[in-house]
Amino acid sequence: MPEILVTGGAGYIGSHTAAALAAAGYSPVVIDNLSNSRESVIARLEKLTGKKIPFYNADVRDGAALDAVFAKHSFSAAIHFAGLKAVGESVQQPLRYYEHNLTATMSLLAAMQKHGVKSLIFSSSATVYREDDEVPYIESGELGCSNPYGWTKLFSEQIIRDVCAANPGFSAVLLRYFNPIGADKSGLIGEEPQGVPNNLLPYVSQVAAGIRPRLSVFGNDYPTPDGTCIRDYIHVSDLARAHALALDFAANNAGAKAINIGTGRGYSVLEVVAAFEKASGVKIPFEITGRRAGDIPEYFANPALAREKLGFTAELGIEEMCRDAWRFEQNRKLFPEEK
Ligand code: NAD
Ligand code: UFG
Repeated sequence: MPEILVTGGAGYIGSHTAAALAAAGYSPVVIDNLSNSRESVIARLEKLTGKKIPFYNADVRDGAALDAVFAKHSFSAAIHFAGLKAVGESVQQPLRYYEHNLTATMSLLAAMQKHGVKSLIFSSSATVYREDDEVPYIESGELGCSNPYGWTKLFSEQIIRDVCAANPGFSAVLLRYFNPIGADKSGLIGEEPQGVPNNLLPYVSQVAAGIRPRLSVFGNDYPTPDGTCIRDYIHVSDLARAHALALDFAANNAGAKAINIGTGRGYSVLEVVAAFEKASGVKIPFEITGRRAGDIPEYFANPALAREKLGFTAELGIEEMCRDAWRFEQNRKLFPEEK
């Protein structure tokens, strides 16, 4: 079975992708420095997939460590998740974000070149689109970011494009994720934020579990039907499956291609809260607070290119996303030794 390097494979999207790769007949090999994840995710992944998942506790920025892993395996491609991802933190610590995320991307590309690995799938983000782009966002839209985290994604995309241009035969798929939520239906892996969650769904799940008293809804005076912001939420297992399809595309198409991964449909914050209440049977207390700096009223994906190039369409709806997030939240107490 073809071996695929998964950087950041112990994290939220990386672990679900490792599971999807195993299901699609690939052998994922994980490098993760566990800065935002736990090692026991690997054991849970092995239980879920029934396969041994080689794991290296290493930093992707460490070229010697990467060399050692590339020397032990024969990778047909790499999928690059490893990086820092907190938007607000990136505004406070721009140099840390630029150093970390850009060095990680360049270090991986250098190792790939050195060891003759020519296909890369990169975790980009819908945040690379300009805020004033028309919705739905389309890949040919204007690009530009409002925070350093976003710029690390856009600059990484450019670095990868330049490496593709300089190396005929090198291929890359730049997957621009919209808002991944939910968890694997096994309940074994899911999103495990450290500390107070920044994102909506983990916060709602923790309110439902009684860990936090109430949700703050950041503003209800936006120009949307119910006044709260609209996002394109996508089930993480659908997103994970898109990576396996992107590997097929990369194997047959040289050069770099940016592709949106979303559902094409937006939900407001209050619609998500209502869907979660329905899925869990738990009432979510909330209060309307002020707007969060940097939030934009509404965006969602034009998913046509993913359908055309990857044969990808999201299959799971908001009910499944909330149901599976809630199942994982309840299961987390089964892993108490990891807290
Ligand atoms: P995550 O933090 O759960 O996973 C990232 C993993 O990478 C973690 O396990 C962390 O320990 C590891 N890591 C970080 N720096 C590393 C390094 N230098 N070397 C080795 N391992 C390192 O995050 P996620 O939500 O799974 O996101 C994965 C990728 O997708 C990130 O690049 C993120 O920016 C991108 N992305 C995420 C979202 C989202 O909403 N979750 C949206 C768009 C893009
Ligand atoms: N929200 C609340 N209360 C909360 C948390 C969030 O009302 O406690 C609202 C936000 O204001 C926003 C919506 O819920 O309107 C979604 O917020 P998230 O933080 O879950 O997601 P974002 O759309 O802000 O950002 C996410 C990722 C970024 C990525 C971006 C674009 O966190 O990394 O999507 O892909 F860049």
